[in-house]
Amino acid sequence: MGAEDTSGARESAGRTTRVLVGVTGSIAAYKACELVRLLVKAGHDVVPITTPGAERFVARETFEALARRESPRALYPHLLEADLLVVAPLSANTLAKLAHGLADTVLTEAALAFRGPLVLAPAMNARMWEHPATQANVALLAGRGAHLVGPATGELAEGETGAGRMAEPEEIAARIQDLLGGGGGPLAGRRVLVTAGGTREPLDAVRFVGNRSSGRMGVALAAEAAARGADVTLLAANLAVPAPPGVHTVETPTAADLAREALARGPEADVVLMAAAVADYRPADPSAAKRPKDAEPWAVTLEPTQDVLAELGLRARENGRESVLVGFAADHGERGLERAREKLAAKNGTLFVFNDVSRDDIGFDSELNEVTVVSESGEHVIGKRDKRAVAAAILDEVATLLGGGQG
Ligand code: CTP
Repeated sequence: MGAEDTSGARESAGRTTRVLVGVTGSIAAYKACELVRLLVKAGHDVVPITTPGAERFVARETFEALARRESPRALYPHLLEADLLVVAPLSANTLAKLAHGLADTVLTEAALAFRGPLVLAPAMNARMWEHPATQANVALLAGRGAHLVGPATGELAEGETGAGRMAEPEEIAARIQDLLGGGGGPLAGRRVLVTAGGTREPLDAVRFVGNRSSGRMGVALAAEAAARGADVTLLAANLAVPAPPGVHTVETPTAADLAREALARGPEADVVLMAAAVADYRPADPSAAKRPKDAEPWAVTLEPTQDVLAELGLRARENGRESVLVGFAADHGERGLERAREKLAAKNGTLFVFNDVSRDDIGFDSELNEVTVVSESGEHVIGKRDKRAVAAAILDEVATLLGGGQG
């Protein structure tokens, strides 16, 4: 085969990094061959672990030949020395087992025993992917810090179109490289401030005016920025999902809390990602006690809140700072996109990420999103994929704007 270029090899503590590659039963198993080849080429020591289902599609010997080693009989020594476990393709069945801690194959046993980063590249039929059971399992895994890559939207094995195609091997290999970067990721040394969730504005001691934002998109952005080596602070407004590990989290339940923290920290940040749904109005006169019920209507006056993004944009402009300010607009259809363009200019943002909330298959409560990124130089669509993959695509653009390339 001749000498391969191993200049991309990552050394940790003076030894070659070891990557366990789990392959499950999916037609996309053939793409795992390319992933193994890319990882070997990048200088990693690759240990393939196939499930019986995977071997219906690709022979174990194929992976062994590409990895230049046999699949291990005794996995334990490899586990102890492994730096990362990737499962690609990940079937709906194995995804469910990983979420619930089942250990009935060598791969699921390894996953349960392994303590390092876990990268998952699901591949399945779109209906299986979108089923609430699968989405709940994905949320469990993401909540425990698993790194999801894809699935992408496209033509599936059954001839249908939808979300469920395994991410391309290059994308998975790039994510692995980022995670193994050991602090030298493409955003290393960069300060990133992320706001996530939806603020709640008190009406009285127990009631509030709120919104449907779960915080998933902002949490995905924070996790992705941290995985790329950034120093990340997350301003969390009533998150429905756990804050990711490795991120400094500050609770900011109201618009006033969020404004105070963001304005104190934003000017120092290289990147501000305003993913939170910040209330535009708050009750002008909240009562400190619980308002007792009576037969009269309750009229509430709402007063405007401070626009945090616009204020940060103004300060950056006044101070001539080269920070990247990203706004998020949840709005309806073509008119919403038009308004996102207007907001970009009005708030002095660098990018605006438009999310069409007239669609019920993406956005608020979904794991999936499809967004249009609007900037002064143009706009483009990041096609429907899981929120972590959307976050990765947004951060690729941010990295380019920072001048650091995409790593
Ligand atoms: N935002 C903010 N401070 C606020 C309200 C919103 O920083 N008080 C930020 C959001 O975090 C988001 C962006 O501004 O990144 C867009 O928010 P949106 O509410 O859609 O924009 P508005 O200008 O409030 O427009 P409208 O409500 O009319 O759609």
